[in-house]
Amino acid sequence: MNTRVTIADLVDARRAGKKFAAVSCYDYTTARLVAAAGVEMILVGDSAAEILLGHDSTLPATMDFMVTITAAVRRGAPNVCLVADMPFLSYQTGLKDALTNAGRFLTEGGAQLVKLEVGEAQIEVVKAMSDAGIGVMAHIGIKPQTIGKMGRLRVDGDTTEAAAMMLDLADAMVEAGAVSLLLEGTARDVAKMVARRVPVPVVGCGSGPDCDGQILVIADILGLTQREMPKFSKKYMEGGKAMTAAVAKYVAQVHSGKFPDDKHSYHVRKSEAADFTKWRKQQAE
Ligand code: KIV
Repeated sequence: MNTRVTIADLVDARRAGKKFAAVSCYDYTTARLVAAAGVEMILVGDSAAEILLGHDSTLPATMDFMVTITAAVRRGAPNVCLVADMPFLSYQTGLKDALTNAGRFLTEGGAQLVKLEVGEAQIEVVKAMSDAGIGVMAHIGIKPQTIGKMGRLRVDGDTTEAAAMMLDLADAMVEAGAVSLLLEGTARDVAKMVARRVPVPVVGCGSGPDCDGQILVIADILGLTQREMPKFSKKYMEGGKAMTAAVAKYVAQVHSGKFPDDKHSYHVRKSEAADFTKWRKQQAE
């Protein structure tokens, strides 16, 4: 029997020292294939704004768009632990907005957890969500939604001061009720300290091998993106080249008239053959 992976299963996996795999993915068809490959978790990341829509940051992702694609991913992957990314300004504008928007991911999108990029300013919102019964994944380390303020995104936890701040923030998030942490672009040793210290599953994205789970963006795994891959990411196939080669073959066959052939065409029913031949003859006269 297929059963849905829940945060409780991931807590058990962590206790048993078993790693879990997650991907960021944004559509029904890909979610179906990714689930068949055995991932335990899918994040519908706001990186969709870059990967699907071609923006140069995650900021233009909207609530309606994210809820729509989250529901599509859930239809494709009914049994994974589904996490929805709260887009820019969906939780920074007040507790009521944050709760309403997080709730939409659960009720309309079918997500089990919501992820938000956090600093000290988000302790209250994480607590409010947790008090409302919403499972929160607190995203610390590199926070792509701060690109406007920071100007560029860089590794976190690579100084003693930054490491100490990160441990404090991780503690504060767990204390506020976060049921999972996501560490993006964090120095390996510090990620290890965080993962050992907190009692919740820690997902690493470019934060070394000592986190409980790992996440990569599906387009990077498949080699579909043109963008320069971050140091931590890994391409498992040249999907972009394979896709362009396949479509180029199709284009050539259309141009040459080789496609579609008779095998890829519909035909008048056999039982209609005599009538049809007679009728066609009349049409030609
Ligand atoms: O938006 C996203 O896909 C993410 C992952 C890269 C962690 O936040």
